[in-house]
Amino acid sequence: MNPAGLLAIASLVAALAVLTDVLPLGLPYPAINERAVDVPSHLLPLVPSPLEGDYAPNTRLQGTVRLLQGVVSGPESLVVAHDGKTVIVLDKFGYAKRGSVIESTSGVPRVELEDGVFAYTGPGRPLGAEFDQGGNLVICDSLKGLVMVANGTRRLVVLANRVAEDSAIDPGSEINYANDLDIAKDGTVYFSASTDLRVAFNRDGFYDTFNTYLLDALRGKPAGRLLAYNPKERTAKVLAGGIWYANGVALAKDESFVAVVETTALRVRRHWLKGPQAGQTDVLIDALPGFPDGISRGEDGNFLIALISRPSPILKLMPFRPLRAIAAWIPPKWRPRPKPWGAVIRVSPEGKVVETHFDVEGGFMSGISGVREVGGRMFFGTLENDHIGIYDPNRRL
Ligand SMILES: *[C@@H]1O[C@H](CO)[C@@H](O)[C@H](O)[C@H]1NC(C)=O
Repeated sequence: MNPAGLLAIASLVAALAVLTDVLPLGLPYPAINERAVDVPSHLLPLVPSPLEGDYAPNTRLQGTVRLLQGVVSGPESLVVAHDGKTVIVLDKFGYAKRGSVIESTSGVPRVELEDGVFAYTGPGRPLGAEFDQGGNLVICDSLKGLVMVANGTRRLVVLANRVAEDSAIDPGSEINYANDLDIAKDGTVYFSASTDLRVAFNRDGFYDTFNTYLLDALRGKPAGRLLAYNPKERTAKVLAGGIWYANGVALAKDESFVAVVETTALRVRRHWLKGPQAGQTDVLIDALPGFPDGISRGEDGNFLIALISRPSPILKLMPFRPLRAIAAWIPPKWRPRPKPWGAVIRVSPEGKVVETHFDVEGGFMSGISGVREVGGRMFFGTLENDHIGIYDPNRRL
């Protein structure tokens, strides 16, 4: 037999061995020593809502104006001060840049960045941030955990990279892949840790959170957590585990619960802090029409949820463990890319869809990963693009 025939037969035998579990296939770096596992049956099937009814498509986001085009890289999140004038943009190389929103007579504002960097938080990738009451910028970094740029000195301080020994859940465990946070009036920092898998440096020179996201989804094990950092005791405790990629975090206006996005399960959970359900977790909204990423509290007390991409074919693979293990080995540049789309929805604390903002072709704004509402305007961060967006729902900018 010729070599090509032998190779074809060998490949077929290998594929059959994997599919029948004779040859268990591990996952590629950085998920080495990990295997795909069966997805918990209560999560399947994962069916996104169609774009109809509450989610009927519209073109509202086509009123978005791109700012800082070509000046920022992968600004997953941004922070806008309450005055609506100061902006902090976190980029994929670990830089936090500070800028000002400048109004103009044409009605289209621009953002002007200060020279130099406000803070370098790397190596790592900053994914979420908030100012605390002391003017410190508290940041979730995918490598280092919960860190802070101190007001004034701009020193980088690690607040928590390990769970306290007296935590009821996972005592003493390390904090890996911190992703997003919100800060309560008493100073408690609620934050997410997406998964126990590592984020690795890629050939393009940055820490590739998307790659680890994908491996986490293909592995099939919900390993994300919601944590709380107590600034007086300087300790972090785990409030809830088993979240399938814990992502955006936002407190309810009355702080009765904290909402945490569960990206791969297409839903947002509510972890109750007060009332008869305190300590328990339920679902705020599920079957979202795309993968949820960032969440923040809008000015009206409802939640703004950024749906970073439309449902991907990966959802169909979820019941098939060996196929997921094989798919994990597709090299990054051969992976099917998600089609551009932009989507932000406003959801009440009871889980009702209040309004939607779409750009279903993504020509104006796509891949929105973070959203902030200040002064009636929304500011958008995007994981993979080279700009931020600003959008005024009440008038075309
Ligand atoms: C931050 O520090 C400056 C002094 O460097 C101080 O004037 C300011 O009040 C601080 N901000 C807050 C919110 O405490």
